[in-house]
Amino acid sequence: MKFFVDTADTAEIAELAETGLLDGVTTNPSLIHKSGRDFMEVTKEICGLVDGPVSAEVVALDHAGMMREAEILRKIADNVCIKVPLTIDGLKTCKKLTGDGSMVNVTLCFSANQALLAAKAGATFVSPFVGRHDDNGFDGMELIEDIRLIYDNYDFSTEILVASIRHPVHVLESARIGADVATMPPAVIRNLFKHVLTEKGIEAFLADWEKTGQSI
Ligand code: G3P
Repeated sequence: MKFFVDTADTAEIAELAETGLLDGVTTNPSLIHKSGRDFMEVTKEICGLVDGPVSAEVVALDHAGMMREAEILRKIADNVCIKVPLTIDGLKTCKKLTGDGSMVNVTLCFSANQALLAAKAGATFVSPFVGRHDDNGFDGMELIEDIRLIYDNYDFSTEILVASIRHPVHVLESARIGADVATMPPAVIRNLFKHVLTEKGIEAFLADWEKTGQSI
């Protein structure tokens, strides 16, 4: 499973990229706002920090406007992935852009039928929002299971990019189901490394090592 980080904080991205475990980045208008940075400038910087796809979202709601914005965004770098909302205009734009060889991430997906439409529109990625789904009394992971089943039934190549992840259990469940990508806030990625027994084990080994009086 690929790991993307869901942030526009370049310091966090740079640090996580150093692990060699980061496969891409997703941003959205809220994350750009949170960064306090210029959209074009910060997106260009992020594209230089990772080799994999960097999702940058259009804000126009109509097809012509989305195409205009996508033209500007795809000039930023080769690894820009245009993010469009799951609407009729968004999917029209997706079809056109992927037909031209651009990567497209279809976002704000909340139903398996929407994911089916995204795949038919040739999306590179579809982003079902599991956390927001859970917040509203639905089962986010059940949605991922349904999308996996449907995509496998028809051999769709659209990758399931699990978004709105809130905790490590979402990541574990995504991996069990066979989702292609998990995009996570930096804190969730860091939490994946942690286990109390790993920390305790290191502490005990170091204490015993010190008693040997040796060094490597
Ligand atoms: O990038 C889209 C998604 O991951 C947003 O997550 O936490 O705002 O629901 P959240």
